[in-house]
Amino acid sequence: MPKTKVAIVGMGTVGSGVARLLLDHGDRTARHAGRVLWLEKAVVRDLSKARAAELPEGVLTDDLDEVLNDPEITVVAQLIGGLEPARTIMLQLLEAGKDIVTANKALLAEHGPELFERARELGRSIAFEASVAGGIPIITNISQCLSANQTLSLEGILNGTSNFIVTQMDVQGMAYEQAVRLAQEKGYAEADPTMDVDGTDAAQKLAILAHLAFGAHASWADIPRVGIDQLDPEDLRFARELGYRIKLLATAHLDDAGLELHVAPTLVRAGTPLAEVQDAFNAVRVVGDAVGPVFYHGLGAGQMPTASAVVADIIDTAVGRTRLTFQTLELFSPVGPPRVRLRA
Ligand code: NAP
Ligand code: HSE
Repeated sequence: MPKTKVAIVGMGTVGSGVARLLLDHGDRTARHAGRVLWLEKAVVRDLSKARAAELPEGVLTDDLDEVLNDPEITVVAQLIGGLEPARTIMLQLLEAGKDIVTANKALLAEHGPELFERARELGRSIAFEASVAGGIPIITNISQCLSANQTLSLEGILNGTSNFIVTQMDVQGMAYEQAVRLAQEKGYAEADPTMDVDGTDAAQKLAILAHLAFGAHASWADIPRVGIDQLDPEDLRFARELGYRIKLLATAHLDDAGLELHVAPTLVRAGTPLAEVQDAFNAVRVVGDAVGPVFYHGLGAGQMPTASAVVADIIDTAVGRTRLTFQTLELFSPVGPPRVRLRA
């Protein structure tokens, strides 16, 4: 059977999950890819640090050059969070001829145009299913499965950490600080959890989805956002008494005046699908003009759900079936992007 040599850069929560899937379930990946996905290298900062995945001798390295200079490694999962050194490493990998898979939405929301343009110039791909809603295949669904539609609206719970914290406070009566710590322990939160609780992470994901679904050019930083860090436990109690739940919703709504985008804790009527999304689950409701409403629900954060999306992207990349990139989507778009209205 043919072999594709793969590397991972960044062996934290997600990187370790990806290593586990590649090493422990090669049969699955071989069945779907028709080839062996061989984990050749895993690049870390600190060789002495304990990792959640046991790696074969010789795989772990702290030298990125071992990946850059090995022409047999063709696919790299770039799983370092934040902007730098992630951006520089992505560019180095592209220059070295690697196709990339990433879960880093902060990087794509900030530097996506630059990275996708460079990938296009070099004939390389960047797959990013895991960057929004973890294990839910929302990128593929919006950019491929629903591509016959004009998306009319999209609303979702896109940050697992916030939903986990609100669930713990609302259902278990847990204190906010304790719920944040638990989300960190479970591997849901960003390295800086402020990004989760102040709505930044959800706005970055909304900017990516708005680009794919509506062709909209919105900078995540311009999207009005309020996070769950503004909530009082009393808000949750009053909402419940009135028959509602509070959910951090990311919303995109298209009408004649343009596209409205915002992120905010929102009252959602109890018993409706979005209101019942618990813990680190995410959900997205998309309305297309042909298909009507479609609802997606699944784990949006955590090691293995996220690794599931990354490894699916590795398989697709290895067999040359990589997702559309931002650039190709724009090239195919028959109409110009909608005017973006940002609600204050
Ligand atoms: P993490 O646990 O903090 O892991 C990131 C890893 O990158 C750390 O192990 C860190 O090393 C390593 N790293 C940083 N700089 C490096 C360098 N120069 N060379 C090699 N390794 C380096 O983060 P994570 O939760 O796995 O998240 C990774 C990415 O996936 C982020 O962009 C995140 O937003 C995204 N994501 C996460 C989830 C989730 O549920 N966790 C879900 C979807 C998407 P040290 O261990 O030495 O610090
Ligand atoms: N910190 C993110 C979240 C990880 O909680 O949703 C998944 O992108």
